[in-house]
Amino acid sequence: MQKPASPRIRTFIEGFDEKLNGGIPQKNVVLIAGEPGTLKSTIAFYILYHNALHGNIPGVYITLEQGRESILSNMEGLGLEYAKVEKKLSVVDLAMIRKHIEGLGEHTWMDIFKMYADNLKATTDYQLFVIDSLPVLEMLAELKNPRNELFHFFEWLRDLDVTALVITEMRPNSLEYCHFGEDFLADGILHVKMEQVDEVTVQRRIRCVKMRNTNHSTNFYTLMLENGVLQVTRVLSEKT
Ligand SMILES: Nc1ncnc2c1ncn2[C@@H]1O[C@H](COP(=O)(O)OP(=O)(O)OP(=O)(O)O)[C@@H](O)[C@H]1O
Ligand SMILES: [Mg+2]
Repeated sequence: MQKPASPRIRTFIEGFDEKLNGGIPQKNVVLIAGEPGTLKSTIAFYILYHNALHGNIPGVYITLEQGRESILSNMEGLGLEYAKVEKKLSVVDLAMIRKHIEGLGEHTWMDIFKMYADNLKATTDYQLFVIDSLPVLEMLAELKNPRNELFHFFEWLRDLDVTALVITEMRPNSLEYCHFGEDFLADGILHVKMEQVDEVTVQRRIRCVKMRNTNHSTNFYTLMLENGVLQVTRVLSEKT
């Protein structure tokens, strides 16, 4: 008898969920890795937004890079109206976390981040969690022994019992998804990149590098954002 597919979180990116066996397995910790401007934040917000809107699934988006207002106005510009999901989707920025630092002088920045996320979990029971981005968190945390501390950080993420989307940054043309072996710790990796297809045309591409528990395609697909809708299509023109 065929094993039933594990419960999945749909990405709502048109054409992509079927390449992932229906979506991201629930409780997976997934990196979204890419160079600047490859829609990492948009993809993460899009997944939370549509799961809140269509699935009533609560989410938390922690933005350490951009302020809350900046993220929200970007997303409004893409047609993702926050007012429609604000009861289910919390967007938290660094300033909001900093407010909680007062009186917590003994704790490290990482401890404060975790406490904040744990408290939110207790109050909102969110199922989807975005960290935008991991390199900024690593910088703020001033990790002394990055590999060891990140191992424990990923353990903590798993104990949160949520599906986590963790944004990492890649340098253009680099093949490193991250810097301290986080790609081995994560259950999944979605890689987004820019591809120059001819002298003037550059397209965005997405591929699933790995996804535990999933019989997924490893191909690159063209990623398009039009009228607030993300979709993937087969790559038609390849650079020779
Ligand atoms: N209203 C819009 N309609 C279509 N595309 C847009 C719109 N606003 C922004 N974009 C595109 O989204 C891109 C930025 O997307 P996003 O912020 O998700 O990327 P990112 O990978 O998170 O970038 P960064 O590395 O700077 O964090 C812009 O460079 C632009 O191409
Ligand atoms: Mg971003």
